[in-house]
Amino acid sequence: MATTTGARCIGILTSGGDCPGLNAAIRGVAKPALSDFHIEVIGIEKGFRGLVENHSRVLHPHDVSGILSLGGTILGTSREKPHKMPLPNGQSVDLTPRAIETYSRLGLDCLICLGGNGTHKVAYNLAKQGLNVIGLPKTIDNDLAETDITFGHNSAINTAAEAIDRLYSTAEAHLRVMVIELMGHKAGWLALSAGLAGGADIILIPEIPYDIDSICQHLTERRRRGKWFSIIAVAEGARPRRPGAQATTPPAADGEKKKKKKQKKDKAEKPGGKDGESDVAALDTEGDGRSSSAVAKAISRRLGMETRVTVLGHLQRGGVPTPFDRILATRFGTYAAEMLARGEYNRMVAMKGAEVTSVPLEDVAGKIKLVPPDHPLIGSARRVGTNFGD
Ligand code: F6P
Repeated sequence: MATTTGARCIGILTSGGDCPGLNAAIRGVAKPALSDFHIEVIGIEKGFRGLVENHSRVLHPHDVSGILSLGGTILGTSREKPHKMPLPNGQSVDLTPRAIETYSRLGLDCLICLGGNGTHKVAYNLAKQGLNVIGLPKTIDNDLAETDITFGHNSAINTAAEAIDRLYSTAEAHLRVMVIELMGHKAGWLALSAGLAGGADIILIPEIPYDIDSICQHLTERRRRGKWFSIIAVAEGARPRRPGAQATTPPAADGEKKKKKKQKKDKAEKPGGKDGESDVAALDTEGDGRSSSAVAKAISRRLGMETRVTVLGHLQRGGVPTPFDRILATRFGTYAAEMLARGEYNRMVAMKGAEVTSVPLEDVAGKIKLVPPDHPLIGSARRVGTNFGD
């Protein structure tokens, strides 16, 4: 069925950090677009840089065949944004008009953007400039607003949980405290789920600032029960609780970030803090600036326990997508193709409960979805004895 009201020619790009499931989503959009709705599909390469510089190629059915389980993205990606394109002298320039020009020159009726928070901010900006845009939520961090889940997250949980399983046996053999740092940017979804799946004894996430005393107390308790080894899953964004702060303080809202950063910098320049704070307050600026290293050091110093740190890093973004992510990305992609046929634009495909639906881009742009401290996953973890350092 050829589309009469909807798009006849679309561009598709992947932007931001890659994740497993991007190719499954490209396939999910392109296959029905090409064969069911007779829409021409143009692949834009290297994210928004490709839109600014017009790096594109027509995608044919054979280009999107055999890519369902492939990691990475056949289109390439970048973190560059049209309104802030970097220059060799370190400055940046607004090249949004060039992005709009490419859109017109290619004769696009819609641009499909596969990405996370940064991508959806750009997508909304372009929509405000008059382009038709559809967003697809991807990120291992699962921190996009207005969708219960993003594709890529489940694959990263799998990789991280498997890593924790592997650490478990060596932790037990050496009676060590193994600290594993997981990605997640400013949200704790990945560390929470992977930690829960891997049976981590302590999980530290940005949404629940930790107290090193509480962590040490929990480890001491475990030793008393004959458990001389432990696993601590630390989200890369986890931070210690400031003295006098409440036990569970949500991370600063976006608007307050700059002010807090400056306060943090000032404090970092004064070891121990100007008001004579303990190493608890200095933790996040100690050593390499990672909470994982700081927590490990504090544990060995205070309890005399042997610790080791693993930073799992980009391993969490690589490899094949899980079947869950292949299915999710395919559902999101095919839903987007149906939106194209209906001519429904300037929305992000989203999962609400068990339903795939779409939400206005303006409800997503500039927002972040954090773990609510009363989230059921936290409740379940606490019930099985997991400590959150609070
Ligand atoms: O957003 C995905 C993510 O992997 C985050 O978890 C992490 O903070 C960041 O990207 C790392 O970015 P890069 O690949 O640019 O180092």
